[in-house]
Amino acid sequence: MELNEILKKRRSIRKYAKGSGITPDLIKECIAAAMEAPSWKNTETARYHAVMSPDKISEIREKCFGTWNYQCTENIQALVVATFVKNISGYQKDGTPDNELENGWGIYDAGLQNSVFILKAAECGADSLVMGIRNADAIREILGIPENEIILSVIALGERSETPERPHRKAVDDIVKFY
Ligand SMILES: Cc1cc2nc3c(=O)[nH]c(=O)nc-3n(C[C@H](O)[C@H](O)[C@H](O)COP(=O)(O)O)c2cc1C
Repeated sequence: MELNEILKKRRSIRKYAKGSGITPDLIKECIAAAMEAPSWKNTETARYHAVMSPDKISEIREKCFGTWNYQCTENIQALVVATFVKNISGYQKDGTPDNELENGWGIYDAGLQNSVFILKAAECGADSLVMGIRNADAIREILGIPENEIILSVIALGERSETPERPHRKAVDDIVKFY
């Protein structure tokens, strides 16, 4: 599939069908693609905690999501918690931040990776929903995520049972200035 087709196909999906197409191998393929993204000094600080056990998925949906994301993730086959190891990307070896963004660069790197992750998922026929509205402390406790990792989003993976319209996008000329 060409990139333009993948960009068109990928949408945030909030209604999923029951299915079994999401496998550990598929998730690993998406992570492998994501790892081709650039990162600050090639520090590669993004991490993934892939939850596929139905019991753990239910626990996370019940304890870590509000009503909206709980409803959106019915029939979901995997929840992938995206994190990054803090105080490395954007920092010198002695721990001094390279500039004012500090751990913002770790977030930036992870965002670049996560974007490739969801596009690769779309190419593989997997639908996704990135969720920033989640209880990070509860997720950390349930999965035992170490304190040196900052928890970002939870990426739900499944198979769509809706075909949403493309949400409005600004015009290119609204967000670019040439000098
Ligand atoms: C960082 C981030 C956090 C998001 N959090 C949520 C969320 O908690 N719940 C939700 O339903 N959608 C969430 N979304 C999905 C956005 O609402 C969605 O990407 C946007 O409306 C554009 O739609 P599209 O992804 O179909 O192009 C999030 C997206 C991003 C990038």
